[in-house]
Amino acid sequence: MWIEVTNDDESFLMSQYRLTAMSSPDYQGMCNDEAERDYRKRVEIFRTIFEPIDSSLISTPDHKESSWTYMKCDHARQHFIVHNVKGYLFQKVVNFIMNLRTTSHPFYLSRHGQSEYNDLGRIGGDSGLTEHGLAYARRLADFVDRNIVKDKEGKHVPSRLWTSTMRRTKETAQFIPQEKIIIKAESDPTVEYEWVQMRPRAWHHLDELFAGSCDGMTYEEIEAEFPDEWERRNVDKLAYRYPRGESYLDVIARLEPIIIEMERHREPLLIIAHQAILRIIYAFYLGKTRAEAPYLSIPLNTVIELNPGPIIVHEMVSILHDFEWFISFMFIFL
Ligand code: F6P
Repeated sequence: MWIEVTNDDESFLMSQYRLTAMSSPDYQGMCNDEAERDYRKRVEIFRTIFEPIDSSLISTPDHKESSWTYMKCDHARQHFIVHNVKGYLFQKVVNFIMNLRTTSHPFYLSRHGQSEYNDLGRIGGDSGLTEHGLAYARRLADFVDRNIVKDKEGKHVPSRLWTSTMRRTKETAQFIPQEKIIIKAESDPTVEYEWVQMRPRAWHHLDELFAGSCDGMTYEEIEAEFPDEWERRNVDKLAYRYPRGESYLDVIARLEPIIIEMERHREPLLIIAHQAILRIIYAFYLGKTRAEAPYLSIPLNTVIELNPGPIIVHEMVSILHDFEWFISFMFIFL
């Protein structure tokens, strides 16, 4: 399948050239201005040899492009030409690309605060937060206020909050304020409407990988009671499906609409979810393989910031350290 993307918005292109030059490994060690100049030269050379797909003669049978499968996209004008696309996978690709945006916005990923089951070493369940978990939830609300809902000048910008439907993620979101702001419609700046900042939206798709018959057990109990299952999971964690439960591959399939929604929106977005879920989203954005995903580290008490651009920039910010928890714990009991 050929995919041709057109964008002739000069200001957009200029910002992309700069960003690409700044973040590309090709220009490591080179100053930004020099890298940008070199990158622009490169684009000029590409321009001279680039041959666009000719869709004007689609119905002419002996025209070479008429038998190809292709998609031409102009996202700025929301203009798409889709030709000869058949089959499940290609149609999904088309749907995904049509939902992409040229404006990029940051995503923030956080696991819920420590739950009672985390503390007991039990998997799954639907327990509430421990004191430690609540301390994280309060710290997260501060982080949101300082980093997500305002721009650099301190002006409120529309922003979104998604959780799973489970108690521990909703409790983690509970201290995040929902302020009302007035914003201008993009299509007509004379029209204003009300936006509720960080209004929580709970998605079943974001619920933790369901461990079926093993839900609520510790890993030691699973190993002792279901040694064969334990062994099978160790051999192939990605494809292994818990009895009456789910596998990582099942989770990948149910997260597909979430990724499309993440791409479709334009506002900064905080997702409060679970270890297995965030591993898949994080792996997708960082271009990790499916096989690597079940082993990625998504620590508790940490916000992961993803800034999609020509090259994705990501950062892990630990916002509650164990020693701070220990101090607040001592404080509660003194
Ligand atoms: O232990 C916390 C948890 O979120 C469990 O609820 C879940 O089963 C597990 O992590 C997923 O991690 P892994 O796939 O490594 O067992």
